[in-house]
This record gives sequence, structure tokens and C-alpha cells, in this order.
Amino acid sequence: MMDQMAMGDSGSPLLGTDQEIEFILDALNLPLGSAILDLHCGYGRHSIELAKRGFRVIGVDSTASFLEIARQKATEMGVNASFEQCDMRELSYSQAFDAVINMFAAFGFFSDAENEQVIERIYSALKPGGRFLIDLLNRDWMLKNNLTRYWRHPSGDYVLSYKVELVSGRAVMRRELLNQLTGAKTKFEFILRVYSLAELTDMLRRQGFLIQAEYGAFDRRPYSSDEPRMIIMAQKK
Ligand SMILES: C[S@@+](CC[C@H](N)C(=O)[O-])C[C@H]1O[C@@H](n2cnc3c(N)ncnc32)[C@H](O)[C@@H]1O
Repeated sequence: MMDQMAMGDSGSPLLGTDQEIEFILDALNLPLGSAILDLHCGYGRHSIELAKRGFRVIGVDSTASFLEIARQKATEMGVNASFEQCDMRELSYSQAFDAVINMFAAFGFFSDAENEQVIERIYSALKPGGRFLIDLLNRDWMLKNNLTRYWRHPSGDYVLSYKVELVSGRAVMRRELLNQLTGAKTKFEFILRVYSLAELTDMLRRQGFLIQAEYGAFDRRPYSSDEPRMIIMAQKK
């Protein structure tokens, strides 16, 4: 287990957002004050941490309630980060950012053509030489580990299962919540296009990116089908 953790300055292991932030800073290696776009920022967990450390950050997401939470958290923490509601397909920045980050499997929601248009818009949003960091589920690892996760939550028992449909290259994720008090079951299904490493790097190159690195985890171990993540660092020419 320990070998999956990065070590912080204090020598203690870093996990979750802390580990991801250390990885982002290390991988991007940007001077303070650089402009970063957090595409699909969710509750802003990366945007806020990066802004706190002296970067100019804009977080974009389509879900208004997530953005509200992000703004509230930033205000409470006295952090200067901006949050904008925008569908990633409508992203219209031009040469505005030193880096774009897309964290935690927040890509692949649309058709292949639309997903590629998103990459095109990310390319336009970057300054020349700007970097794009994308962190996704590793499709090949998912295929090898047909997992079902179960955990207990105060509101009930959760089961999360997923399987990859090989014909469509899509992961079908099913979540089921069993309320222990009432016995009621709530089901939720989520479908995401999961690209192989070759498919995604081809798409990035078609849009003009150079591929700089491929990682399998936030401790910078190289990509392989035995690692759960597929993290790619690309650069605009
Ligand atoms: C898995 S979450 C990742 C959130 C964040 N990057 C993180 O690591 O916490 C995916 C995010 O994508 C957003 N999203 C889904 N469809 C979108 C779209 N069409 N345009 C912009 N954001 C979208 C959701 O609102 C959600 O916040």
C-alpha cells in the first residue's frame, strides 16, 4: 500500500487531493502566477488548492450547484479563484492559459466527434507551449479487473459496479443504494466513453499536441495495464 503513496515534505504519505496537487505541480512545473484552467472543476478541490498556492485559476463546470459550493469554499478560505458555468463543448477561450487540467475521469461524456472537438477547444485555449494534463480511468485496467465495490454509508449500503462494453468502448457504471431503514433501493446508471492509451494519444496528436508523458498513478509510476489510472501530459506546439 505504502508504495502507492507519495511522501509529503514532512515525510508523511500524501493521499487524495493532496497527492493529486503535488503531482499536478510537479508535472506542470509552472512559475507562480501562471494561468490554469481547471476543466470540469466539480466542487473546485483542485482550483482552490492551486489558487491558494499562487496560480491564477479559472474553474469551469456545467453543474451550477457544484460551482456554488466551489465559490463558497473559496470565499471561506479567502482564496481568489474564479468559477464559470460552461458546457465543455462551448469552451471559447483563445491562447489564454499556460495549462489546462482535466482531473478525475471528467472526459468522454459525448460522441467521439464531440469528445474530439473538446480536445480542439482545449488546444485553442492554451498559449503556445502550454500544457494539458488529463487524468482518466485506465480502460485496460478496468477490463482486467471487472470490479464491484461495496461500502457502508450512514444513509445506506452502496454498491458500485462497472463493466466495459467492448463494442462501443464505453464503461457502464451502476450504483445502487440500499436504505437500511426503509429497504428502498435507488439505482443510478452512468455511461462514459473510455479510450485506450493509443486512441487518446492519437486524438491529441491529431489536434496538434505533442505527447510528453504517460503515467499510471499520481506517484508518477509509468502507465501500464496494471495501473488504475491513465494520466497523459501533452503540450501545445
Ligand atoms: C468526475 S467529476 C470530476 C470533478 C473534478 N475534476 C474533481 O476531480 O473533483 C466530473 C465533472 O464533470 C462535470 N460535467 C459533466 N458534463 C459536463 C459538460 N458537458 N460540460 C462541463 N462539465 C461537465 C460534472 O458536473 C462534474 O463536476
